[in-house]
Order: sequence, then C-alpha cells, then structure tokens
Amino acid sequence: MCLQRINLPRMAGFTGYSAYLRAKLPNSTNGEVQTVNIVLGITGGIAAYKAPDLVRRLRERGAEVQIVMTASAEEFVTGTALQAVSGRPIRANLWDKEAEAAMSHIELARWADAVLIAPATAEVMARIVSGGAPDLLTTICLATEAPIALAPAMNHVMWSNPATQANRAVLEERGIHIIGPGIGSQACGETGAGRMLEPDVIAATVFNLTGGKGQGLLEGKKVVITAGPTREAIDPVRYITNRSSGKMGYAIASAAAAQGAEVVLVSGPVNLMEPSGMEVVHVESAEDMYAATHASIGDADIFIAAAAVADYRPAEAVEQKIKKSNEAMTLEMVRCPDILASVAALEPGPFTVGFAAETENVVAYATGKLEKKKLDMIVANRVGRDCGFDRDDNAATVLWNGGDRSFPTSSKVELARNLIELAAEHFYAVRGSETQPKLTVISNID
Ligand code: CTP
Repeated sequence: MCLQRINLPRMAGFTGYSAYLRAKLPNSTNGEVQTVNIVLGITGGIAAYKAPDLVRRLRERGAEVQIVMTASAEEFVTGTALQAVSGRPIRANLWDKEAEAAMSHIELARWADAVLIAPATAEVMARIVSGGAPDLLTTICLATEAPIALAPAMNHVMWSNPATQANRAVLEERGIHIIGPGIGSQACGETGAGRMLEPDVIAATVFNLTGGKGQGLLEGKKVVITAGPTREAIDPVRYITNRSSGKMGYAIASAAAAQGAEVVLVSGPVNLMEPSGMEVVHVESAEDMYAATHASIGDADIFIAAAAVADYRPAEAVEQKIKKSNEAMTLEMVRCPDILASVAALEPGPFTVGFAAETENVVAYATGKLEKKKLDMIVANRVGRDCGFDRDDNAATVLWNGGDRSFPTSSKVELARNLIELAAEHFYAVRGSETQPKLTVISNID
C-alpha cells in the first residue's frame, strides 16, 4: 500500500471531485509520495467506535496511521477492524517481542509526526500527567518529540471533575493539545461537555499540528457561512425571531474547516459551543448579519447561507419598553435586506449556496429560489413540527442548474460533511480545476 498525492486531471466526463477522492484508483507513479506518520492511540471509551472513521479521515489526508491500543480499548473496538482500515498491524503490547523487533517503541515514537489519542479517557490523561509509562501508549508519549494531541471523551461529570480539569491544565501547560471535547448527548443518556469531537474535525486539527502536511478538499479556500436565527427588536426587551438552532450552519462551518478552508462563521444568537479553527462573528439582527457578511465576502471563494434570516423587521425599534393598553396593537413591518441575493449578485462573487426551508412543495419552491436569486446551488429541506429546525438530524435535496442529489435523514454533522463535499465538487467544476488542491488518493481502502 502506498499513499500518493496526484493532481486531479482536467478531463472530459469529469464525474466529481469527491468521487475521485474515494475512488479506488491504482497506485499512480506520477505523484510525489508524501506521508504524514501518525501514531493513533485508542483508549477504552465508548467513542472508540468512531476510530475506524477517524483512521479513514486521517488516511484521506495522506497519513500513515499506526494504531496503538490500550487493553481497555479492546473492550470497545476490535483490533481486526482497525488493522483492516489502517493497513498496518495493530500495536498493543509493550512486551510483544516480534513487533518490537520490527519497530521498537522508541523507533515508533521517533517515526511519528504526531501522536493522537482519540478517544482519550480521564485515566490516560492522568497517566500522562503523572509521567508513568506502564504500557506502550504512555511509553510512546514519554519518548516522542512529536506534537501530542488528545481528544477527550468521557461522561460530562468526569470531564468537569476538578481532578480531570487540573490534569487538562497541566497537559496544556506542557504543550499537549486538547481537541474538544464537544457538548451534546452522551452514550450514558446524559447531556453535557465530554463528547469526542467528530473524526474529520480531529483529523483537520492534527494535520495543523504537523505543519499543514496533508490536504483537505478546500485547502487555501475561504468560505463564509451564515448560521442561526436573527433577532429583530421591537423594543429594548422584545424581539421577533424563529426556531432555528444554528446546528446545521455550525456543522457546515466545522465540515468546511475540517476540509482545510479558512472559515468565517457569521452567527445569529444560538446556544451552541463556539466552534474551533475558524473566525466567528456574532450578530443579532438581519442588518448586522448583512454588514458582517459583506465585511468578509470580498475575497471569499464560497458563501453558504444557512441562517434563517428574518424577512421582516419592525419598522421602528422604539427606545423605551412598549406599555400595554386596552387597544389592539398593530406592528408595522418592513423588509430586511436579503443577504443571500445580495452576495449572489456580486460580480465577481463567490460560489453561492442557499437554503430553502419549506413546509410544503419543497423542491418546487427551492427551484424557484435557485433561479430567482441566481444561486449556484440550493439545499432544500422540509421544516415543521418534527423535522428540520432545532433537531440533531436532517434530510435534504440539493439542487443546481441541471442536477440534484438527495441525502436521506442523517445527523446534521454527517449531512454537513456531504454538503461540503458536494459544494466543493461543484465549486471546482464551475470555477475551474486549476484552483484545486492536490488530491490524496487511497488505493486500498473503502
Ligand atoms: N436569506 C438571506 N437573507 C434574508 C432572507 C433569507 O440571506 N433576508 C437566505 C437564507 O439564509 C436562506 C435563503 O435565503 O439561504 C432562504 O431564502 P428565502 O427566499 O428568503 O426563504 P424564506 O425566508 O423562507 O422565504 P419565503 O418566505 O419566501 O419562503
């Protein structure tokens, strides 16, 4: 097996960028072989089930991945599966004479361009802090001079425990990178901080630690994304808003950053954790969102309007709280600026992707918006009482001039990943392949 970087050829019948990314092409001889060596430590947490996906994300970017499992990790994921996706024998035992003869733990520590532990339990954090080396993984951590990154995953009470937080602080002081954890529902059924971040986000962060070796689909591209609702003030204490949680826009921003893009996220008021690896501009009203978007859009390659922007705002936001009376009240409303249409009208403008959240006639309404606003692409989704807004999952149909693709219900994180790959594919198809980054083609992994 060999990982190679090749330039995607300009060719007739170009069938899609992500298709190439995933294609099982035979090893090419025209590419320069550039591998990034990552020791991936897997410890005993339920999030270990994400390890095969993480290996795949690392390898897509050009990594050779050597897995080192702890004994408790084997309770959650099998070495056989991991060996298949990594293409290398798993290391688990410091005293394995045969494996040590092939590459000793010291050689392995030197071979690594980065050591990543994902999931990292509270136990492994404590062990690294103590400087103990009772097993192969902690021995490598002591012996390596490469950057070390940990993606913690544990119950939220364990994460917020003062002992874990003290260990986190010590690790960070020593220059060890802590990736996440995220906030959300946990395997134990509770909600809080302690979820392992998504594999593509972890992979992107680790590649940054290795000096940017390894490329994502949007390396060198700037992507501006709007997300969340807007608030249109009626008076100092009241406003008009909508049910958007911002989850879809935030997931898209993370997926774009994970593909190497420089991301500016223009966010309305949401109750979500600040995403890492991007610039986040917080705004309230549609007018603020319009101004913040146009402040960043000048050199943007792609614009994705995922925000649920108010179409109307009160004509006047009065300065003092409105007092009730016995009379009926009429609020005069005026149109808010259409951010998406204004960006799509820029010449030259970025590749522009809109959203159409509809309760009925989803595809027909979305097609109308695609044409009327002169968009490159539109993501149509049904919203209503039990779908779309303020949920963790979503389904969508993406439309563009001359084509469409439907994505069945999946997590917003998974959908965001697919949307970014599709947007990147069409961006390069429309804007020319000479701006494409070099591709990493993996020859023997599905
Ligand atoms: N949008 C925007 N600025 C606005 C309104 C909407 O940027 N003032 C963007 C949204 O982010 C989304 C798309 O436009 O990408 C939605 O299109 P739109 O026609 O405005 O949808 P609705 O507001 O749902 O319109 P309608 O009530 O006509 O269905």
